[in-house]
Amino acid sequence: MPKLPAPPLPKSLKPKPKRPGEGNGNGNGNGAVGLSHPVAEAGVSAVDWIDERTSLSGGIRWMLFRKVPRGVNWFYTLGSATMFAFLSQAVTGVFLAMYYRPDATGGAYESMRYITDQAFLGQFVRGMHKWGSSVMVILIFLHMARTFFFGAYKYPREMTWIIGVVLLILTMAMSFTGYLLPFDQRAYWATIVGVNINGTGPFIGPYLSDFLRAGPEFGATTLSRFYAIHMLLLPGLIIALIGAHLWLITKLGISAPPWLKGEPDPELEQTEV
Ligand code: HEM
Repeated sequence: MPKLPAPPLPKSLKPKPKRPGEGNGNGNGNGAVGLSHPVAEAGVSAVDWIDERTSLSGGIRWMLFRKVPRGVNWFYTLGSATMFAFLSQAVTGVFLAMYYRPDATGGAYESMRYITDQAFLGQFVRGMHKWGSSVMVILIFLHMARTFFFGAYKYPREMTWIIGVVLLILTMAMSFTGYLLPFDQRAYWATIVGVNINGTGPFIGPYLSDFLRAGPEFGATTLSRFYAIHMLLLPGLIIALIGAHLWLITKLGISAPPWLKGEPDPELEQTEV
């Protein structure tokens, strides 16, 4: 005769669920995960409170706890390093924007001098932003080289590559538009050369240089145009595209190194054609 399941306990006899840190029944009163500190418990409760209402932890787990192929190495960290460089640029850029004035009649240059000579940690933040831009460009090229030489652009990751190409162009455009902002002699003349080079491009060249100059002549609004492109348009696009890039990477998984040999599937080996 099959064994019947035990009848459910009446409510009054059910063991009371334990509160966090109340003990795990082994008598040490410490909790199974050792969370007895009130600060740690407060953190856990806050995270639980948010998660119960948003279910965000599922998405975070999907994004972060993924299987990666055997043999991945330091070259695979170059994309994250590029992202970190971008985040650093975003943070330092926000602080610079708090003092910078896009005023072509001398205000821009003066505000940069103020940042460098007087603002608290201004020279440091400006230096981080300036050197950080070069770091980001170097990292993005190294990351692109890694994905190219490892063949990571092939099926099914073509879209990841195409979005990457757009990210590369946007990063170069960030460098170009940022170069004018100090508004010193070098920035001014280098940008005139750059805008003129853009103007020589086929078909859209002249329209592009008119758009960048905000008219047929290099004038006061050119600086505002570059500033708006540099701190609003391009960062917005870059953030959206990095989001799409990361979504595809999570969805498709990371590609295996090209030297890794696939293990033959025993089931397929037995199949006779
Ligand atoms: C702002 C710029 C970029 C960021 C933040 C970024 C970020 C990332 C990250 C975090 C990964 C995960 C694996 C890894 O790091 O290698 C990745 C993968 C990838 N990226 Fe980028 N990337 C950028 C630009 C580019 C560029 C310029 C290209 C190529 C033109 C590109 C093509 C790819 C490809 C094909 C993968 C898939 C690699 C694989 O599955 O092995 N990315 N990217």
